[in-house]
Amino acid sequence: MAASMKGRSFVSVSDFSVEELWQVWELAARLKSMVKSGQPHRLLEGKQLAMIFQKPSLRTQVSFETGMSQLGGHAMYLGPDHISLGKRESVPDVARVLGRMVDGIMARVFGHSDVEQLAEYAGVPVINGLSDEEHPCQTLTDLFTIYERLRRLQGVNLTYIGDGNNVAASLLLGAAKVGMNITLISPDGYEVKPQYVQRAKADAARSGARLQFSSDPDDVAGSDVVYTDTWASMGQETETEARARIFKSYQVNSDLIRQTGGIPLIMHCLPAHRGQEITDDVMDSPNSVVFEEAENRLHVQKALLALLI
Ligand code: CP
Repeated sequence: MAASMKGRSFVSVSDFSVEELWQVWELAARLKSMVKSGQPHRLLEGKQLAMIFQKPSLRTQVSFETGMSQLGGHAMYLGPDHISLGKRESVPDVARVLGRMVDGIMARVFGHSDVEQLAEYAGVPVINGLSDEEHPCQTLTDLFTIYERLRRLQGVNLTYIGDGNNVAASLLLGAAKVGMNITLISPDGYEVKPQYVQRAKADAARSGARLQFSSDPDDVAGSDVVYTDTWASMGQETETEARARIFKSYQVNSDLIRQTGGIPLIMHCLPAHRGQEITDDVMDSPNSVVFEEAENRLHVQKALLALLI
């Protein structure tokens, strides 16, 4: 029988073992099928989730809020002006107060240490809904989406092309954990931070994942999955124009997809900047799973909530 994950936090992909990742995905598949067939699944009846947002969101807010409601609980939105995390009140004090009133916390923050501190002091499960360093819920969902389509993760060749940002860092950690081969292609100076490469290498040594790093956008041959993300993340708005010039040749377009030599799944965590990091024809192509990926945030995070709270 699988060990209970109750009371645990999910701040980084590294927080879960491979077995725990599969526990989430197995429950997510069951919950997805229950929603589709209209079966009730009120696993969190009466439970409360506080959602702290320091940044904008569509998918994260709606998926957690809808998810809690479908599970019989309730989610409350605490926006940037509500609690001014770390300004009006220290992060540990916010954590201590919320932990006495709610059953779980989801936080979207700038500084990764803020979500780590929330997890340290809240006394209830804390879920990272994106920090400047990682986006673990996105990776959890991305790997689930790939498994749904390809029925395997081990040995799948995933190419991430673009900025070595929080999404790329979590994807690298997740791929290394499950034995998925990953190639990260980023312009010089925009690679994933070395600490994530080191952590991923340790997991890859166990799982057999092949990790490759390149600055050449032509290094896409043999990709089963091509993944991209915005060139300028939230908080980098002043760099948008400069980055558009630097990343121009890293656009996921039909020429790049042709160079894979196959028909790879197309992924993007959204929001997409059509005509920049991805073209309309690729994003709307039959092999694009970007909107399934978005929908799966709901199913995967519901499983996460039900297992942790
Ligand atoms: N992918 C993602 O996290 O979307 P939002 O920023 O809209 O939540």
